Amino acid sequence: MKHTVVVIPGDGIGPDITAAARKVVDATGVEIEWVEFQAGVKAMEASGTPLPEEVIDAIKEHQVALKGPLTTPVGTGFKSINVALRREFDLYQNIRPAKSFEGVRSLYHNLDMVIFRENTEGLYSGLEHYIDSRRSAAEMIGIVTKAGCERIVRAAFEWTARQGRKKITAVHKANILKFTSGMFLDISRRVAKEYPDILFEDKIIDNMCMQMVMNPHQFDVIVTTNLFGDILSDLASGLVGGLGLAPGANIGNEHAIFEAVHGSAPDIAGMNIANPSALILAAAMMLDHLGEMDAARKVERAVANVIHDSNAVTRDLNPVNFVGTDEMASHIVEEMARLS
Ligand SMILES: NC(=O)c1ccc[n+]([C@@H]2O[C@H](COP(=O)([O-])OP(=O)(O)OC[C@H]3O[C@@H](n4cnc5c(N)ncnc54)[C@H](O)[C@@H]3O)[C@@H](O)[C@H]2O)c1
Repeated sequence: MKHTVVVIPGDGIGPDITAAARKVVDATGVEIEWVEFQAGVKAMEASGTPLPEEVIDAIKEHQVALKGPLTTPVGTGFKSINVALRREFDLYQNIRPAKSFEGVRSLYHNLDMVIFRENTEGLYSGLEHYIDSRRSAAEMIGIVTKAGCERIVRAAFEWTARQGRKKITAVHKANILKFTSGMFLDISRRVAKEYPDILFEDKIIDNMCMQMVMNPHQFDVIVTTNLFGDILSDLASGLVGGLGLAPGANIGNEHAIFEAVHGSAPDIAGMNIANPSALILAAAMMLDHLGEMDAARKVERAVANVIHDSNAVTRDLNPVNFVGTDEMASHIVEEMARLS
């Protein structure tokens, strides 16, 4: 079956890693028609808006997108296009796996955890403003709803049950944020009772950060609210070897956008040293979503094998003997051919 996928190359390292991911997906033999659109800084320069209407229309129509990272100006300028897209398509599940790869120098080995981050509410609601004309103070509103908590918690439990995984940790700050985080915790506890075969526990976010650094093997699936999930997923990627290896999926009831956890990495943009693996692994999640499971597994195995043979990886994984972004993708394609 032929699939149509919207592809947004993105900013910074985005175009290089997106080209690499397309090359790998095309080599699986799955028939994909890519329709390409610009968003972010490039679109701003070209059309005066970072999120042109045609991008929204294309995702509405085709329902699936592969997206390179988009730069969001810090402290000024336009609001995050990533947040806008997640909100526009109600992509309430942000699924971010953190898995160890053999051959990667990292703090831990044999880690395999998955973070389910609520993706549309909380402190990313975008409701903030200065409260006086001198801008001496600002306030923000974090909106948390029962429906929003329930659907992400339920999605995490359903996925955990389907995958045959064993344990869910709900992460919160209900000791201080009694209404918002408290609501998330209450709902997590209630939903957990419906899944007696899945071990359930909850942890306060500060303790969770310490536990993840000291003893991460205790974690399996983690479900949490927007801001905590964003931070914990970067932390988790740091445990397994860095942001270059961390994929993510943004899933709603009708639409899905696949991307790397990392950003546009302006410090290494244009240097041909960005690791394409995170976006390639996100593309594998996309293949799963499209029902192309065999192709998805083949991509994942090829990435793992190439990383294991650390002579064909980017500088973040082997600072002494490394290859460029595109060359690493070519090695992954060759490895897929070998696996066939
Ligand atoms: N989903 C997204 O599009 C997304 C996510 C996070 C940040 N951002 C945006 O990206 C911009 C830069 O953010 P940042 O610098 O805080 O975070 P970043 O993730 O871009 O980079 C953090 C560090 O990780 C390194 N890194 C990231 N990806 C890498 C890769 N594939 N290979 C090798 N090294 C890699 C970078 O060189 C940098 O040192 C900001 O404008 C931010 O808003 C976008």
